[in-house]
Amino acid sequence: SAVDRFLYAMRLHDDQLEDISARFQAEMKKGLSAESNAAAAVKMLPTHVRSTPDGSERGQFLALDLGGSKFKVLQVKVREGMGIRKGGVEMEEKIYPIPKELLIGRGTELFDHVSESLKDFLQEKNINLEKTHPLAFTFSFPCEQPTLNQGLLLSWSKNFRLRGLQGKDVVQSLKGAIERTGGMNVDVLSMVNDTVATMMTCGFDDQRCEVGLIIGTGTNACYMEALRHVDLVEGDEGQMCVNTEWGGFGDDGALNEYITEFDRDVDAASNNPGKQIFEKMVSGMYLGELVRLVVLKMAKVGLLFDGFVSDALRTKGKITTANVANTRDILTGLGLTPSQDDCIAVQHVSTIVSFRSSNLVAACLSAILTRIKKNRSLRTLTITVGVDGTVYKTHPQYPKRLHKVVRRLLPESHVRFVLSDSGSSKGAALVAAVAQRLASRRKQ
Ligand code: GLC
Repeated sequence: SAVDRFLYAMRLHDDQLEDISARFQAEMKKGLSAESNAAAAVKMLPTHVRSTPDGSERGQFLALDLGGSKFKVLQVKVREGMGIRKGGVEMEEKIYPIPKELLIGRGTELFDHVSESLKDFLQEKNINLEKTHPLAFTFSFPCEQPTLNQGLLLSWSKNFRLRGLQGKDVVQSLKGAIERTGGMNVDVLSMVNDTVATMMTCGFDDQRCEVGLIIGTGTNACYMEALRHVDLVEGDEGQMCVNTEWGGFGDDGALNEYITEFDRDVDAASNNPGKQIFEKMVSGMYLGELVRLVVLKMAKVGLLFDGFVSDALRTKGKITTANVANTRDILTGLGLTPSQDDCIAVQHVSTIVSFRSSNLVAACLSAILTRIKKNRSLRTLTITVGVDGTVYKTHPQYPKRLHKVVRRLLPESHVRFVLSDSGSSKGAALVAAVAQRLASRRKQ
């Protein structure tokens, strides 16, 4: 069809996906090695999480989940020896909206909002303010972590762009804000990326879960790497979870052959031009915008709406990922009068854009799985991937397509995908619980 011809560059064949997968494997190596890490586009950040849960974790934790589609405060109870599905992890949560201007203001103001929300939560749930509460923090941005409860912010991504925090320890910023708010006794035990939390949540139920994947506002993945390959951390025994920060794949030009004019335009108009190139081809924050730019161009060249273009269609952000499903309503809402053929064509555009997204994720995920398989010299790999994120959860065909392509790229492996619902919130508490368990064992 005309759409297929127009978007041929977005339709990636298996040989191209294999090429992308090979490139991503090279990027992972670069990020892991001490010599090349500083210049690497894919940061491969050590997380200090050395094992997935073993089921003996327990305790009650406060948790903060910042940087996903919603900011949440939670109380999480972990009960020993029960899987998540058996009610072993219970949680109560409250969403606190973040006023838009706070996302681009001063870092301290955002953290004041975070700590005031925490205090509100404690009061509302009648949680004893005198006692000291262990707190687990999910912070979904790239951080260099010297230890489990420190995180030096490397850069902002998605729709966050705050002043005064880059290079700083965000755990300190959080503690400072909690001090300023006053009247709370909390002990920040751990800070984790949402991918890590998602892997841990899934791992509480399934010992084979060693990969965490997010396809939401942003996209990223983590996995259990052999410590001998993690140059930045001492020691050769055992494993460590590595936060790949794969959103930055392509920031050094590694994906240039696959980038279209629409990707270039999305990047140029973004908060962080030149950064998070892979993320901008894949994640929810950008898919709607990609569709809009394609539709706009097609209209301009006369392939849609008899060549008519409305002001709304020219406006950034007028199509979001959420409404990509209901074509006629969206187009009418944009001041257009679509014919039946227009609707079908636009629907087809969004299918191609989201297909490309799941294909790219499949390529990089299979790179990670291939790496794990080689590390362990296995002929067949049996592994579980814990997944969370609005795109994966709400797009009706997305999971099926992703699974299919991964299995096609890795025919000799058995890959299980588990939706880790609210994984990024629950898992923070599991990381804290594992840390507590290990600390108490050391004391004995
Ligand atoms: C962005 C962040 C990353 C996070 C991902 C998913 O890519 O840089 O840390 O995991 O979004 O939320």
